[in-house]
Amino acid sequence: MSSALHPRQLANLLRATIRSIEERWFDATHRVHTSGNASVRNPSEVVGQIRDGEAYVPVRAANARVALADLPIHDLSAFTFVDLGSGKGRMLFIAAELPFQRVLGVEYSTALHQQALQNIASHRRSKQRSQTIESIHADAAEFEFPNENLVLYLFNPFGPEVITRVLANLRQSLLRHPRHIIVLLLWPENSHLFSEVDGFRLHRKTRRYHIYETIHP
Ligand SMILES: C[S@@+](CC[C@H](N)C(=O)[O-])C[C@H]1O[C@@H](n2cnc3c(N)ncnc32)[C@H](O)[C@@H]1O
Repeated sequence: MSSALHPRQLANLLRATIRSIEERWFDATHRVHTSGNASVRNPSEVVGQIRDGEAYVPVRAANARVALADLPIHDLSAFTFVDLGSGKGRMLFIAAELPFQRVLGVEYSTALHQQALQNIASHRRSKQRSQTIESIHADAAEFEFPNENLVLYLFNPFGPEVITRVLANLRQSLLRHPRHIIVLLLWPENSHLFSEVDGFRLHRKTRRYHIYETIHP
């Protein structure tokens, strides 16, 4: 019996090895622990409710940077970056390398939020250009949006049930405080729900990401 790998197996092995090296490189160079998938199974492990939440799978830094470079913004310092479902915080450190006014993560898992807090305390600040990085322990379905211009980033954190609640909150927030809001969806599975929101238009649609923004008068 031959022990040689099938070309597809070899390709998968290579991909997994490259991915693992990327993950270790990111964590080592940023002095954080953001690698490793994790899921919540028990309501006691989260704040709020487990509805249609997805497991923690950290973003690939290269994919995130390409999408961030395509945001329709001239002055990033006029925006707050919000990661809904931020996990251990990898995207927070990537976004904070840009001059956003501040960077916020919203995470409902207690363990992941605690890891994000440790990462925020230990991370190498030499590349940080945003003023602050914060992890908020909250259910995105209940999150009250800050009144600033926002970049809302979602990397498939939850399904339609929570998205519908988030969009209802966002609509209310926009009615109270009209402002520039950009939504960046990475590998989106429920983009159609965002396309149906009044007052938003599609800015860019690629295979990897979709970007929506509020329509200016
Ligand atoms: C696919 S991971 C994305 C991680 C991170 N945003 C990134 O890009 O690296 C989804 C995250 O959403 C979190 N999540 C799921 N449902 C949530 C909810 N209702 N409120 C807040 N966080 C939630 C999960 O615990 C997990 O950390």
